[in-house]
Amino acid sequence: GPTGLGVEIVGVVNKLQDVFSTVGSNASQIDLPQICVLGSQSSGKSSVLENIVGRDFLPRGTGIVTRRPLVLQLINRPAGGVQANGAAIKGDGSDKAANADEWGEFLHLPGEKFYDFNKIRDEIVRDTEAKTGRNAGISPLPINLRVYSPNVLSLTLVDLPGLTQVPVGDQPRDIGKQIRDMVMKYITRPACIILAVTSANTDLATSEGLKLAREVDPEGTRTIGVLTKIDLMDQGTDVVDILAGRVIPLRLGYVPVVNRGQRDIESGKAITSALEHERQFFENHSSYKGKAQYCGTPFLARKLNMILMHHIRNTLPDIKGRISQQLAKYSAELQQLGGPTGDGNSGNVVLSVITEFTSEFRTVIDGNTNDLSLNE
Ligand code: GDP
Ligand code: NA
Ligand code: MG
Repeated sequence: GPTGLGVEIVGVVNKLQDVFSTVGSNASQIDLPQICVLGSQSSGKSSVLENIVGRDFLPRGTGIVTRRPLVLQLINRPAGGVQANGAAIKGDGSDKAANADEWGEFLHLPGEKFYDFNKIRDEIVRDTEAKTGRNAGISPLPINLRVYSPNVLSLTLVDLPGLTQVPVGDQPRDIGKQIRDMVMKYITRPACIILAVTSANTDLATSEGLKLAREVDPEGTRTIGVLTKIDLMDQGTDVVDILAGRVIPLRLGYVPVVNRGQRDIESGKAITSALEHERQFFENHSSYKGKAQYCGTPFLARKLNMILMHHIRNTLPDIKGRISQQLAKYSAELQQLGGPTGDGNSGNVVLSVITEFTSEFRTVIDGNTNDLSLNE
């Protein structure tokens, strides 16, 4: 099955953007959600993001690897001029040859295109060190990376430094507060969907990510719990009680995942084989096999898909309102200028397209949510 953010959402967002580029007004900008990862150092945040994108390009590892926010803008761009609506995100790995239709560009290196995703990772490491030094320093200065591809949903993902309490090496004493303040700037935004990542081999009750998420999203409408390193749990222990909401209940629930371990990363294991390993792990594990369809990265991606759909649906009435305001203002101005009055139709056409689209869109959402219980 699809491992990325799914087929429908790509088509839906692209269609919306088509409509808006026809309107050609920044008043119609949709407030597209950002997905931010939140959690302790080395809990697996970067690994989770990579698996969701289906590409291999983030620095990962033990210790403090992510030391500046990485604001990753995925931009859907049709291959060779062909409209790629409905394409699922590919689960291809690092073994994939460079593709002329997929590349990355850094804001700090204008005009330079990176077709090799390993070079993207190298540049993230290089620029992190250039701005923060080789030690464990952190900086709120974000790295802005755009990835153009026919296989992605136009969406922003943010990889954040991990929460920590204890300074190491020559880190400032208030490193914990610095990171916390930095992370808060991102997760406070209402359009931010929070992936609160906790490794399953630590105590959930001490999860800093969950604590912060609750502060900014007390109703739990935009927080998903992600439990990593299920494969590293002690024999005979599992996360069944957490999934059932008996430990710290979350309205949108938890998704257990198995990412690549440090040795997989060192040996260059591809994302496709990692996802296959994850699938087999849950299907064969005595604690999860009955519920394997609610475990793993593909289910997490579907869940995100559903939350994105709801976000867009909730935003549509506001966008319609803003467009009609704009149209009213525009035609009033035209009237004052004694300009053409017979052309008032084009605005109405746009509105009716959006109205029609809204109901079509609701059908898509209903079809998607029926099989997705929020509290599995
Ligand atoms: P971050 O600091 O939160 O971004 O964590 P990373 O994604 O860099 O992962 C930290 C380390 O944990 C790396 O060595 C990963 O290979 C490892 N890791 C992450 N998730 C898993 C997992 O589900 N299973 C295993 N075995 N290792 C994992
Ligand atoms: Na790390
Ligand atoms: Mg990281």
